[in-house]
Amino acid sequence: MSRAYELVMVKGNTGYMKAPVLIPFYLLDANHCIIMDTGKNLMREGIVKTLEENKLVPVGLLCTHTHYDHYGNAGFLAEKYQCPIALPLGEAEISRTLDAVKSHVFAFSAGQVARDPKMAAIPCVTDHIIRPKDKETFFCGIRFGILHTKGHAIDHVSIITPDKVCYVGDALMCGVSLETAKLPYAFDLGKHLNSIELLRNAKCSHMIMAHRGVYTAPFDALIDENLAVVRKEIQAVADLIDRPMKEEEIYQTVQSAMGIQIRRPEEALNMKCFLQPYLEYLIDQNILKLSIRDQVLCYEPV
Ligand SMILES: [Fe+2]
Repeated sequence: MSRAYELVMVKGNTGYMKAPVLIPFYLLDANHCIIMDTGKNLMREGIVKTLEENKLVPVGLLCTHTHYDHYGNAGFLAEKYQCPIALPLGEAEISRTLDAVKSHVFAFSAGQVARDPKMAAIPCVTDHIIRPKDKETFFCGIRFGILHTKGHAIDHVSIITPDKVCYVGDALMCGVSLETAKLPYAFDLGKHLNSIELLRNAKCSHMIMAHRGVYTAPFDALIDENLAVVRKEIQAVADLIDRPMKEEEIYQTVQSAMGIQIRRPEEALNMKCFLQPYLEYLIDQNILKLSIRDQVLCYEPV
């Protein structure tokens, strides 16, 4: 049985549920709120208890991206509270069906995705679209600022509430998640680095990170630290590929050098999804190139 999560107010009407992944919200009045991201499916009971104990009813779900730990309760909460879901266009596309979800966890089979409760909880239809050029979105009577912080996910956005509090989703990390990051995930590392830099000048007084932290302006140290960690991980992968290497050899080398333990097939498939963007970035930056050795695809330094 899950317990209710603590409610923490950040500024004005903006606060968050202190869940394993923070769930920010914007209060419309004492009993109604707009929730920003919906956590993983295992947090469902805790979220409902938190809402009930605080006599809060969500009137809308405004989401940054559709990873399972941010979007695992969107369909459930939308149905339970009969409220609309808002998403950026690209994220709405990749979360509409289970097939679409499968396409961005490419290493897993459609059957594996369908049988995985956290993946199977993702698909649902979006009601309100944030378009690529929108700098703000008017949702459930409230005007939210939008920063297009793509990269971590295909069409990830950061959301600025009327209190000038920016919820950055997974565009930034902090604390333990930053200090212990091993191959932090980004769908496109180049765009992710640009988005981190974009947040340096965000017009806001506070930033909330999903993976547990609230920072106040100025944000330069936080931005610099995030850039340094992502660049260090990219460089670490580049340094390990010092000769023509087949994919399996790259996985073994990176796992061993970074102390990443792989015990189950699912962890190996996850590793593919996490490492592939690093290889793609290094190819596109002309740091690695593809070659064929013994009729097998290899990666090698340029
Ligand atoms: Fe994410």
